Amino acid sequence: MKMMITGASGLLGRACSKVFADLNPITCAWTRACSGDLKLDLTDAEAIRTAVNDIRPELILHTAAERKPDICENQQELTQSLNVDATRTLAEAAEEIGAKLVYISTDYVFDGTNPPYAVDAIPNPLNFYGQTKRAGEEAVLQASGNHVVLRVPILYGEVETLEESPVTTLLNELLNPAAHSIDDWAVRYPTYVGDVAQTLRNWSRTLLNNPESSGIYHMSGAEELTKYDMACAIGDVLHLDHSHLSPDHQPPAGAPRPENSQLDISRIQEETLVVQTAFSTNIQRILTQFLFQT
Ligand SMILES: NC(=O)c1ccc[n+]([C@@H]2O[C@H](COP(=O)([O-])OP(=O)(O)OC[C@H]3O[C@@H](n4cnc5c(N)ncnc54)[C@H](OP(=O)(O)O)[C@@H]3O)[C@@H](O)[C@H]2O)c1
Repeated sequence: MKMMITGASGLLGRACSKVFADLNPITCAWTRACSGDLKLDLTDAEAIRTAVNDIRPELILHTAAERKPDICENQQELTQSLNVDATRTLAEAAEEIGAKLVYISTDYVFDGTNPPYAVDAIPNPLNFYGQTKRAGEEAVLQASGNHVVLRVPILYGEVETLEESPVTTLLNELLNPAAHSIDDWAVRYPTYVGDVAQTLRNWSRTLLNNPESSGIYHMSGAEELTKYDMACAIGDVLHLDHSHLSPDHQPPAGAPRPENSQLDISRIQEETLVVQTAFSTNIQRILTQFLFQT
């Protein structure tokens, strides 16, 4: 199977590149492109069309995006260009050569007032990030009846820096000895990027061979945790004191976020084995190395 992965230098893209490595996917990155990656600026529509026509993949995993809500709010033109325009160009170019596109989207397309959300629930994004990801979904679904939108919630995994994931950055909160509060308002479903990548791998043959496998799907970790819960869980597995942290029951400052955008994952479970490994085991393995660097 000939594959192309965008955002291959990002958190989810690295995990996908690893899980699909034996298929020698064309990995596309931009500022962090390494040797072996195709350096492709997705804000350049002509470059996207040329790459897709030259590579002629059967499957494209489109993970690249601006995904930090506060940056999206402050850099709207760039966010629109990457999250919406590039997605539309890629989806149309894929359709022209008969390739299937899997577009990674987010639970932030929902307002978080009426969970759990089925795949056909009506989106109502609360912030610009969510609005652009929803517009990206619409562009993908309009470009082809064959493409797939896969929504996932908050991601964590093997980070290069703690700040790369909103989950791993909680280690900084634990190591800051000053008494302070952490968001205990928003209910989250932290999802390990290795689980998303392995689920995509399990599903990939069906995705390509089953014409019914198209449209919107949800994938999620199984555990329900606030950021405060996650910080305490990280403290417990790493044997770090968390008595200086207190729960904050107010909505966090910054771009508005959904309170509980739990995703109903039953549709993808009907088609493949969905991998959901334990938060505590993963986060202990991922963060241990950072204890000796800070
Ligand atoms: N992280 C989360 O908690 C979360 C939650 C829900 C959904 N999602 C969705 O999951 C997907 C993956 O997120 P992630 O956390 O893996 O993102 P990430 O770590 O922030 O990576 C973003 C990727 O986009 C690439 N990119 C940025 N600008 C580009 C450009 N102009 N041209 C080409 N590539 C460009 C980056 O490449 P360079 O670094 O090489 O420039 C990087 O590989 C996104 O679609 C996101 O919306 C993420």
